[in-house]
Amino acid sequence: MSFTIAIDGPAASGKGTLARRLAAHYGFRHLDTGLTYRAVAKAMLDAGLPLDDEAAAVEAARSFDISEMRRDVLAEHGIGEAASRIAVMPVVRRVLVERQREFSRTGAGTVLDGRDIGTVVCPDAPVKLFVTASPEVRARRRYHEILGNGGKAEEQAILADIIRRDDRDANRADSPMRPARDAHLLDTTEMTIEAAFRAAKTIVDAALEKNS
Ligand code: CDP
Ligand code: CDP
Repeated sequence: MSFTIAIDGPAASGKGTLARRLAAHYGFRHLDTGLTYRAVAKAMLDAGLPLDDEAAAVEAARSFDISEMRRDVLAEHGIGEAASRIAVMPVVRRVLVERQREFSRTGAGTVLDGRDIGTVVCPDAPVKLFVTASPEVRARRRYHEILGNGGKAEEQAILADIIRRDDRDANRADSPMRPARDAHLLDTTEMTIEAAFRAAKTIVDAALEKNS
């Protein structure tokens, strides 16, 4: 059976960076589930379809290739916003969650990061982390990330977008973003990437020990 590390948290909390570090360290496969919602959003935008066209969104959710998803292609701010609108539709979530679960069952170990991994996708995962940071710090991180990639951005606009997206993700009826009851909370507001990795590693090592 696959050992799954479930990581959830809001935008730019550092969950993706942490998931990649843990996957590399333990030799586990990693799935950034945010990309699955982004892939559907991009397919809809590219086809010029309204984002609330449920039948088209379900079809897109069934048909994209998970192994072809690339964050650099799907990173755009507008796609993140569109993804969070796609993500309120239960019929679309059902299809994507099933594909994510399938991924979580393959190989010796997996790391999945998103919003509902510990609560819905993998509720039996032996390790659950909920990563947070203040909205201001998260907006600053995203801002520097965009500038670092040669893009242009305005920090206040990013902050407004992050707050709006957090609100939509935390208050939707189906699978709202929230820590699972048995999740470890990791507030990275004042933490470096390295410190967050070390804190998470201690938790994972203890769970692996218990599982062996
Ligand atoms: O996946 P998520 O949107 O939660 O965030 P991320 O892409 O892992 O991190 C967003 C940005 O914050 C990246 O540029 C990270 O390098 C940076 N970061 C940081 O500066 N300090 C941390 N403790 C975590 C992430
Ligand atoms: O990287 P960032 O945190 O900005 O966003 P993301 O992880 O790529 O997710 C984009 C959007 O997809 C989120 O705002 C959520 O609305 C949705 N999502 C979700 O509902 N459930 C997940 N497991 C992952 C993402």
